[in-house]
Amino acid sequence: MSVTQADFRKAMGAFATGVTVITLDSAGDVHGMTANAFTSVSLDPKLILVCVNRRARTHAHLHSKKRFGVNILAEHQHGISEHYARTNRQDGTDVPGARFDRTKHGTPVLHGALAYLECRLHSAQDAGDHTVFIAEVEDVVVRKGRPLLYFSSAYRRIGDGVKRAADPKLGPRLKASARRR
Ligand SMILES: Cc1cc2nc3c(=O)[nH]c(=O)nc-3n(C[C@H](O)[C@H](O)[C@H](O)COP(=O)(O)O)c2cc1C
Repeated sequence: MSVTQADFRKAMGAFATGVTVITLDSAGDVHGMTANAFTSVSLDPKLILVCVNRRARTHAHLHSKKRFGVNILAEHQHGISEHYARTNRQDGTDVPGARFDRTKHGTPVLHGALAYLECRLHSAQDAGDHTVFIAEVEDVVVRKGRPLLYFSSAYRRIGDGVKRAADPKLGPRLKASARRR
């Protein structure tokens, strides 16, 4: 059975993710790119990865700068995500709702994001039409709030928690030891 690109996109759309904006300095301006192909890789050393399309401007920036920020977006920041996903945007223009500070390395940090990771490029691996950028995390900032989610090609917000399923091996009543966990 051959998998079409549409099939592949649909299958991957079933995998709910958070949303990030990758930020870096570009000749004094903020360059940002919306990305959800982001995950942690290793705890020791602390590594993350982000997959970037070879045609994206960010691709060349990452190779030349070797340093970037990952801003994990909060629920109210979907407009910022939409902006940094547009192909025809220009660096240095005001983005509604987006304000940036700079780290000591000059990397732009987005105000109000749920978390910020300051990253230094570790290695880059070509993978089809994307490159997997692996980076060491040098600093983090974490704030309280609710995340922006992306599922089935649409922005979502987090819902209710899911109750723990009853373990059939434990019978109708949970054993005391399991209840304490
Ligand atoms: C929710 C969402 C997630 C995205 N994730 C990625 C991603 O992980 N990698 C990627 O290369 N592009 C991703 N994109 C597309 C880029 O944001 C888009 O192509 C952008 O215009 C590239 O900007 P640039 O050319 O300035 O680098 C995503 C878009 C959306 C809306």
